[in-house]
Amino acid sequence: MPRAHVLPHVTVAHPVPFNHQKYGIIEVSMPSHLVCFNPSCRATYPITEVIYTCPKCGGLLEAAAPELAQTPAQLKKIWRERRMNNAPIDQSGVWRYREFINFLGDESHIVTLREGNTPLLSGPKAAKYAGLNHVVFKHQGFNPTGSFKDNGMTCGASQAMRLKMRRVACVSTGNTSASMAAYASAAGLDPIIFIPNGNISYGKLAQALEFGAKTFQVDANFDQILALVRTLAGKLGIYLLNSINPFRIEGQKTIMLEIMDQRDWKVPDWVVLPGGNLGNVSAFGKALREMKALGFIDKMPRLAVVQAEHSAPFYHYMKHGGSGEFASVTKPETLATAIKIGDPVSWPKALLEITTTNGVVEMATEQEIADAKAQIGLAGIGCEPASAATLAGIKKLVAAGVIDKTADVIAVLTGNVLKDPDYIYKYHTGKLEAPDGSFIRSTYGNQPIEVPNDPDKIAALL
Ligand code: F0G
Repeated sequence: MPRAHVLPHVTVAHPVPFNHQKYGIIEVSMPSHLVCFNPSCRATYPITEVIYTCPKCGGLLEAAAPELAQTPAQLKKIWRERRMNNAPIDQSGVWRYREFINFLGDESHIVTLREGNTPLLSGPKAAKYAGLNHVVFKHQGFNPTGSFKDNGMTCGASQAMRLKMRRVACVSTGNTSASMAAYASAAGLDPIIFIPNGNISYGKLAQALEFGAKTFQVDANFDQILALVRTLAGKLGIYLLNSINPFRIEGQKTIMLEIMDQRDWKVPDWVVLPGGNLGNVSAFGKALREMKALGFIDKMPRLAVVQAEHSAPFYHYMKHGGSGEFASVTKPETLATAIKIGDPVSWPKALLEITTTNGVVEMATEQEIADAKAQIGLAGIGCEPASAATLAGIKKLVAAGVIDKTADVIAVLTGNVLKDPDYIYKYHTGKLEAPDGSFIRSTYGNQPIEVPNDPDKIAALL
């Protein structure tokens, strides 16, 4: 018999600076726990244990699937009604779905900046470019810090509060650090970020500095720094908020819930997203499996992950059947710096999710990403370079006959157009240099025109 469960109340080290009211406990039938993702281990641990991998086998961890006290029909109604409420946790497009992310137990730890609530935008011109009749963008760039990381970070930061951690850290290609800095500072925690020196966009670095993060620029790539930060976090008792943290994944599940809710639970044929560290595809797949098992949807969409050509270890792995040793890319390269990752930690999870959804993995060249990005801009929507890998990948998958041109496709745009203005300016002015030293063609370039302060001369140009 399902019952309401209250986890012991923990007084937080720093008060959350939002006007939190108590809106009741989260209805779950069992306290959630951590489970080892490795199918041959599946060891379980208390939800409050500060671990990121399984102490027994070293496998990745995940939060156990929710056990619900309500039927899908009841919850769909409750979630819809919450959109009308003024309570911060109902306004949040993550915590609105809290029954599905039931690790916290008590909402007094919640740190929210009203994340989620991102739109589905139709892009007819972009669809035509990709060879589709119709495409819809789920634009995660509308989040408080401009990327999908906020969906996960609200959960990671809330768990940090519950665990009474004082310091939080991450290594990042930019968006995770911007998001972590914001949520940590909002909660009164100390954010510490590590970034690959010279390899993140100024927009993202600026956010981290502005949000008060202690920022280390390390002369190493993302993968090397992640190893360093994992060691440091363990030694110094700092809470790690990379996507290896299973609570980040729980938050990112709500992107998929929100898409379904916005579509009145009509399942699309495809959901396409860029892949870097592979946390997001892991979150999407977990959400889909749980929604299907619990009766929220009757089928699953196919997931398609798109990587940048020279940062594409998962693409190559899947191309060779998704078995045997996973070979990382030791020197990943791409101008889409957000996905410049050669050794993605979440690949075992991503493998399961691509397999379960009959999904595919594609890769896109620098030129393909840049042109697709310009097309998303011309649709009046815009996104950062990594996000444009989705449209570039869709174009290739349609051309190859993998995605049918009549298919119902959701393309996830992961970051805001203003994250990397330098890239945009250089593309449009023919100055965008690829990692191999060649220049990207500004196929859809839009050069600013220098003119004198002379109405006749300007009129002649119009
Ligand atoms: N798109 C954007 C805009 C990103 O920032 C990232 C990852 C991805 C896609 C890839 O997502 O790692 O879940 O496969 N950015 C991370 C960061 C790594 O540090 O901000 P993934």
